[in-house]
Amino acid sequence: MRSSVPERLEPDAGRPVVVLTGAGISKESGLDTFRDLDGIWAKVRLEDVATYEAFVKDPRRVHAFYNERRRGLLNQNVQPNAAHIALARLERDWPGEVLVVTQNIDDLHERAGTTNLIHMHGELLKAECEHCRAVHVWHEDLGRDVRCPGCGRAAGLRPHVVWFGETPLEMERIGRALDRAGLFVSIGTSGNVYPAAGFVAETRARGTPSVELNLEPSEGASLFTRAVHGLASRVVPDFVRDLLAG
Ligand code: APR
Repeated sequence: MRSSVPERLEPDAGRPVVVLTGAGISKESGLDTFRDLDGIWAKVRLEDVATYEAFVKDPRRVHAFYNERRRGLLNQNVQPNAAHIALARLERDWPGEVLVVTQNIDDLHERAGTTNLIHMHGELLKAECEHCRAVHVWHEDLGRDVRCPGCGRAAGLRPHVVWFGETPLEMERIGRALDRAGLFVSIGTSGNVYPAAGFVAETRARGTPSVELNLEPSEGASLFTRAVHGLASRVVPDFVRDLLAG
């Protein structure tokens, strides 16, 4: 059988494998992507729900949007799929470090067993208090009347997500990992949103091999050393199997 890992990609286990994931990896778990024809931004204007300005102008609407998504994520039919599970296996069985950097605010990587994980766009199942800055695990609906369990004040809780115009989380740690990476893998992301969309160019400039695993070519597809196009639940397990087989 032909390997999905070209020889040039076989990385040095002394350098981390950095995996970037986006909404496409969770699509087969039942969560919508953003920019596909049936995606979230085809139904809602991102300016109305995914900026701090929108939250200040109409907090009720922004809370309603994230409350609906939180309930969707907690629906018992939404479970990690074979792609999330394969990445957890890669972390477990690869002789070196594997770091998953996700743009997703769902918790499907954790549920699959990935532990070395950065949520660069935040987490839907957490809330942050604008009064005391505490971050709390949060599974309930949020609203203006809800009080922070830390400082007790109302009207300060917001979803712990990074909105457009805000700075993604843990960028220094991500930058250090990309500097040292022996392989960069991008899964299920359209390559429209920076800084994540720029990671492939950064790794390419350093001569680091890279692979794209996506349903279709992303915006930056031509910058990758190699691309495999198909459903994440198929191409990711194949890729991980071949990488571990060496
Ligand atoms: N398997 C693999 N890839 C898939 C699948 C699938 N089953 N289904 C869809 N895709 C691909 C699409 O072809 C598309 O290229 O996943 C990509 C999803 O792209 P986007 O919807 O743009 O999602 P993403 O790249 O994660 O968006 C980045 O934009 O609005 C923001 O903050 C939000 O984190 C998000 C960021």
